[in-house]
Amino acid sequence: MKRTPPAPLSVWRTLNLDEFLLGVPHYPEHVDESYWQRDAQRIAAAGFNVVRLGEFAWHLMEPREGVFDFSLFDRAIDVLASEGVKTIFCTPTATPPRWLTASYPEVLRVDERGRTATHGSRQHADTNSPVYRMHSRRITEALARQYAGNPNVIGWQTDNELNTTASTSYSEASEREFRRYLHDRYETIDKLNLAWGGNFWALAYDSFDQITIPRKDNPGFVAPGHMQDYHRFLAHATAAFQHDQVEILRGANPEWFIFHNLGRLEDVDLRGQFGQDLDFLGFDIYPMLYDEMRRAGGHPATQALHLDVCRAYSGNFIVPEQASGFGSQPGFSTMTPEPGEMRRMALSSVARGADGLLFFRWRPAHFGAEIYWMGIIDHDDVPRRRYQEAKQFAEDIDRIKKDLLGTTVRMNVAIAGADFDNQEAYRTYPMGMPSPLEDGMLLHRYCYSKGIACGFIHPEDDLSRIKVLYVPHWVMWKPEWNENVEAFVRNGGTLIVGAMTGTRDENNHIPTDLAPGPGLSKLCGVRVEEFGRVAEPGADGLFGLHGTEFGFHNPAKRLPSSSASRRHRFTLGNREHEAAHLYELLALDDDVEVLGQWSNRFASGRAAVTSRKVGKGRACYVGTYLTEPLVEGLVDHVLGADVQPLVPDLPPAVEVVLREAEDRKLLFLLNCDAEPVEVTSLPAGIDLLSGKPVNGGLALGPYGCAVLRVHL
Ligand code: GAL
Repeated sequence: MKRTPPAPLSVWRTLNLDEFLLGVPHYPEHVDESYWQRDAQRIAAAGFNVVRLGEFAWHLMEPREGVFDFSLFDRAIDVLASEGVKTIFCTPTATPPRWLTASYPEVLRVDERGRTATHGSRQHADTNSPVYRMHSRRITEALARQYAGNPNVIGWQTDNELNTTASTSYSEASEREFRRYLHDRYETIDKLNLAWGGNFWALAYDSFDQITIPRKDNPGFVAPGHMQDYHRFLAHATAAFQHDQVEILRGANPEWFIFHNLGRLEDVDLRGQFGQDLDFLGFDIYPMLYDEMRRAGGHPATQALHLDVCRAYSGNFIVPEQASGFGSQPGFSTMTPEPGEMRRMALSSVARGADGLLFFRWRPAHFGAEIYWMGIIDHDDVPRRRYQEAKQFAEDIDRIKKDLLGTTVRMNVAIAGADFDNQEAYRTYPMGMPSPLEDGMLLHRYCYSKGIACGFIHPEDDLSRIKVLYVPHWVMWKPEWNENVEAFVRNGGTLIVGAMTGTRDENNHIPTDLAPGPGLSKLCGVRVEEFGRVAEPGADGLFGLHGTEFGFHNPAKRLPSSSASRRHRFTLGNREHEAAHLYELLALDDDVEVLGQWSNRFASGRAAVTSRKVGKGRACYVGTYLTEPLVEGLVDHVLGADVQPLVPDLPPAVEVVLREAEDRKLLFLLNCDAEPVEVTSLPAGIDLLSGKPVNGGLALGPYGCAVLRVHL
């Protein structure tokens, strides 16, 4: 396997390895050593080339402070290597040994209610704590020394899903580090008071040591500047914690690749130092965890959404944990992938950018808090259908990997994403509005269901390959992005800016310029003069939002709400739409074309949707939030030819994605349902999975998959 230095972060970046990493997270410490050789043989026979080891086993590696014992892992690595399987090792800092938390209790997280975490689960140590960082460096140094010369250890995962169980901590150590961070950021307390708006509610401080970690609703709402900086601090501290480990590992062996496996993206700024430190990112993909979430739209659409959101941070990535079967922890359980579905889900990850994939996990645990979380083989040590599917997937990868590596995922419609500050700014002051992601998801889901190449991109990334950029209500639009976005429009792109964009500066202050702020106002030719809230279509005003008001907790006691009758409507083309969440009243420059108009109440006749020609492209503005009908309206009346599906007349359950490089195009067709389907109107090509030529039509069986090498 050859590693080249990673290119700068971009959604168009390809993976810097010349091999597809394929395997399983493996826990040899969970079974008797007599299993090991047989495990290694079967891992190799499945077609896997790698396992991931060690992320929760610090207690075995350092049974007493300063006494290291890597013998179990040395032997496990050797046995795996004897069958040709290499190892990715992990720093084990998600689970400190009990002696550590007993001797250094100050490293434990403290929750918002002041409860100190206890030993017994995981991620209970506070990565902000300098004492914990010291121990993290110690174990990383010992591991780096141990494996620097071992050719069977080919790369590293830092920690495990940092911040997934908890990202906040209210410990004394965290508070001290927060103050230190603020001191470095602002230098003087006056500057901080200005940034946080010290003259509002007497929030001003006399010195940094008076500052506390903000606590929600204790008793009232916290100033957005204070909250934003706490989350900036957490992201900064998370990156610093990882940076210690990366520096040590790179110093020990510069040939190693290093990644992190992300779970919930909480307080991690992936385009900042955190992502820049790594060779590539890893995203753990558990599609069925989100199946029953409100508005999820089914796990195939949600999986696609998560993968596309992730890819925006760094380009191609690996999936260090891909769900293989039923999954549960004591508090929840997921649906179970049906026969063929595990392979389909894995190929969906590959289609949307994964250039490496490990099925979670080799075998399920017999003890602990994940005993029903299934793996590739079963509890009785017998390989059954999941093993066969994993093997089939390995054969698939073998057939496509030469063509696959070096390609990027086509995206014609892009939603602005991957920006830490905007994500947090929304959360500091949401006002009951949807988040940028919740709003953008409506456009993503439309494109997903129609087979339109869609994804997410940061506005400072290379926009030359996309046709449409939708900005979903980014309150903290930064002036330094204007030039890139304007160039995109001048060169023929269509920009659509959503309501509330550019309403705050980096401190969460409302600027004196009208929204969307000087740069975007000029580009779109609009200024927002007034805005107001409207009830969500179908909702009963504030009752719909909170469920309670002034002590009425019982929905049966609801009074008629006046807000429900105060909905604003607008026309776009020949259709009347209901506004969602917000209406805005716009002042327009002379060269702005009005595409949609408010059609009732006092706003009647004023512009709701606008477009301005700029160079070869258009800058459009939408003075409300998306709804499903509005997405259709925008497609019909604004986007038109820019949103052609990759394959026309796509059957409903078929996912289509295009991966491409200059000399080749791979069209992934994935049946996400158990009913067989016929896909028609396909370009001529060869299905790399079956080796058969395709021209026009293709039958896909239950969860059937094809990867066409096509000429488009
Ligand atoms: C991931 C985690 C794994 C395992 C898995 C299944 O979030 O990294 O350690 O817990 O979920 O729950």
